[in-house]
Amino acid sequence: MYKLIDGKKVAESIRNKIKDEINSLDTKPGLAVVLIGNDPSSKVYVNLKYKKCMEVGIESYKYELSEDSSEDDVIELITKLNDDKKINGILVQMPLPKHINRNNVLKAVDVSKDVDGFNPESIGNLILNKQGLYPCTPVGIIKLIDHYNIDVKGKEVVVIGNSIIVGNPISQLLLNRMATVTVCHIETKDLSLYTKKADIIISAVGKKNLVTKDMVKEGVIIFDVGINKDKEDGKIYGDVDFEQVKDLCSYITPVPGGIGPMTIACLLENTLIAYKNQGKDK
Ligand code: GUN
Repeated sequence: MYKLIDGKKVAESIRNKIKDEINSLDTKPGLAVVLIGNDPSSKVYVNLKYKKCMEVGIESYKYELSEDSSEDDVIELITKLNDDKKINGILVQMPLPKHINRNNVLKAVDVSKDVDGFNPESIGNLILNKQGLYPCTPVGIIKLIDHYNIDVKGKEVVVIGNSIIVGNPISQLLLNRMATVTVCHIETKDLSLYTKKADIIISAVGKKNLVTKDMVKEGVIIFDVGINKDKEDGKIYGDVDFEQVKDLCSYITPVPGGIGPMTIACLLENTLIAYKNQGKDK
């Protein structure tokens, strides 16, 4: 019988801890959330992040720029936020409009306020296994691994997806813990060749039913990062065919209620860490 990894519950307990800690502070941490353009999913995520900030006592400031804003406009706003004392964390929602160079924007975010962990220096800290602000979804997965006492050392981990948001940083975090990590992606010829051997599968692709029963071994642990809205029934599905695969798993995350709430809880935690690193609680 598989065990469900209850991200919703773990995230709630993280949020409660953050809320208690913020209650005892003299000033409130501030998070700036920057949204550029009209991506409907991004709007939903940004609004959710804004709402969850308010619930734990983080002051959230929303900055919405139009789709045709220039890269200079975006960098000018970020520079202002870097200098703004009431802002402790800055998040630029991805994806950006095509004409804006993502790396230039991410480089502009002050490393001490980089609550998404996408600045090159933050990525360097992750690779060097140094303290720093790390990307929220991967940190959320690690927190679930720790909460459920899952040992990753020496385990065969297959990560599906090589994005800078999830696939790359979770691979590095697991490498830092001495897992044997294989990263599969869009050009991988035979995905099941890798997934069949995996003790742990982390899928972050955005494709419903990508992982099926015939692709996994018995006892596998699955973290499903996919958020796929089905056009027909309007429901949210992961990358893994949950119903088909669950009975082969020892642990599996549901979608929704698995990784999603952990991402936001870790963003709130990163904002509080940034606030404290900036000496604002002294
Ligand atoms: N787009 C999808 N996931 C994320 C995330 O964690 N952070 C940001 N900034 N954009 C995203």
